[in-house]
Parts: sequence; C-alpha cells; structure tokens
Amino acid sequence: MKRITFDTADQAAAAAAAMVREAINGGITTLGLATGGTMLPLYAHLRADGGPDMRALRCFNLDEYVGLPPDHPASYQHYMNEALFRHLNHPPREAHLPDGGAPDAQAEALRYRALVQSAGGIDLQLLGLGRNGHIAFNEPGSGRDTRTRVVTLAEETRAANARFFDRIEDVPQQAITMGVSTIMKARRCLLLVTGAAKADALAQLTDGPIEAAFPASFLREHKDVTLIADAEAAARLEAA
Ligand code: GLP
Repeated sequence: MKRITFDTADQAAAAAAAMVREAINGGITTLGLATGGTMLPLYAHLRADGGPDMRALRCFNLDEYVGLPPDHPASYQHYMNEALFRHLNHPPREAHLPDGGAPDAQAEALRYRALVQSAGGIDLQLLGLGRNGHIAFNEPGSGRDTRTRVVTLAEETRAANARFFDRIEDVPQQAITMGVSTIMKARRCLLLVTGAAKADALAQLTDGPIEAAFPASFLREHKDVTLIADAEAAARLEAA
C-alpha cells in the first residue's frame, strides 16, 4: 500500500481529487464513488471550475441505505447529486447507486451486482474508512469473499452517521453495499482517511491482523492501493 500523508485534511482531499482527475483524463471508464463526510472536501475540489470531463465514465457508488428513496435528503443518491453531479459541466454518461427505495432490497442488490459486473468491474475505486473498520458498508464480520448484498448496519455505524439525519431513529437499519470481493477486484483503490477520530482505525488497518473482524484490513492484500491521509489520521502509524 502506497502511503502519502499531508498536514491538513484539505490538502489530503485536494491531492486525492487531483489523482481522480488524472485517472479520468488518463482514460479510465469506470469510477467507483464513495460517500461520507471524508469525501465532501474531495468532491468540492473535484467539482471546481465545473469539474473534469466525465462523459466517457460510468460511475458506481459503493452503497445506499435501504428504505431511503433516491430523493430522500439523507440518501446517498441525494448526497452525490449535491456534492458532485449537479455541479459538473460534463457529468458522467452513467451514474449508478443501488436504489434504496426498491420494493425488494435483495433483488435490488442482485441487480446492482450484475450491473457492476456487466461494466467489467471498477477501474478506480474511492474508499473511506469507518471507525470500526468498515469499507463501504461491509461491517466487521464481512469476509473477503463477500459480494454485493443487503447488510445490517452496526449500531456504532448508525450512531456515527446520525449526524446526517434529524434523529438517530431515522438512520436505516440496513443498506445495500458492494462486497469486499467486489472492492478487491477494482483495478486500483484510493483510500482517503482524515481526522483524529480515524487514527486508531487507520493504525489497525495498516498494522493489525488481516481479518474479517476489521474488513478494511483486506486492502493490504490488494495490489494497487494508495492511502492518502492527513497528519491527524496518520498519527499512530508506524513509519512507512
Ligand atoms: C459511511 C460509508 C462509507 C464511509 C464511511 C466513513 O458509513 N458507508 O463508505 O467510507 O462510513 O464515513 P465518514 O467519512 O463520514 O467518516
């Protein structure tokens, strides 16, 4: 895993956005997008001046809450529209997320799995890190062979994400997420981790055991991951 550390979270986000731009300009055709607070400054940098020309791209988000239709203000579809898509002069030709409002979530997960497969997988996958070691919504216990599916969210994840909702009771219990194996098949991953609250998790990712109890640890077995972190998140890393 390549590691690049910056003094501030904004510098880290700017560098990550520059890397995404470079990949887009270099001709990737599928881009995996992530959500969460960490990605907001990345998207702010990426959309500057109308953003890169994304017309050749098919975008696939990692996950979506079950029970939130696309127009719900806390849905990841809404997040993506507001953080990125609506600001782009040349938006992607396709931008997909699982449909959180689908009447049958299991069927929707299978549809989304097939869609990503039919696109030939992901050229560049953006990733954030959950404090409990989740990537996308692959919570602790998610094995290396997990595929796109419906998952039950950990209580700590619901609590961490409650800030995007009016009340914690409003945070859905379930989500549709790409699996660990889907993420591991991405040709390249860009992991952005910022803030002191992630320092323990990042140290465990890089130096702890590789195991389902901490799904992000599997990224150490991926052949092309770039970790971009700020000084706060990297505070407990052993020297690279
Ligand atoms: C969320 C998302 C993840 C994200 C992570 C970290 O629940 N499903 O894709 O990477 O948790 O979120 P944040 O950046 O808000 O800390």
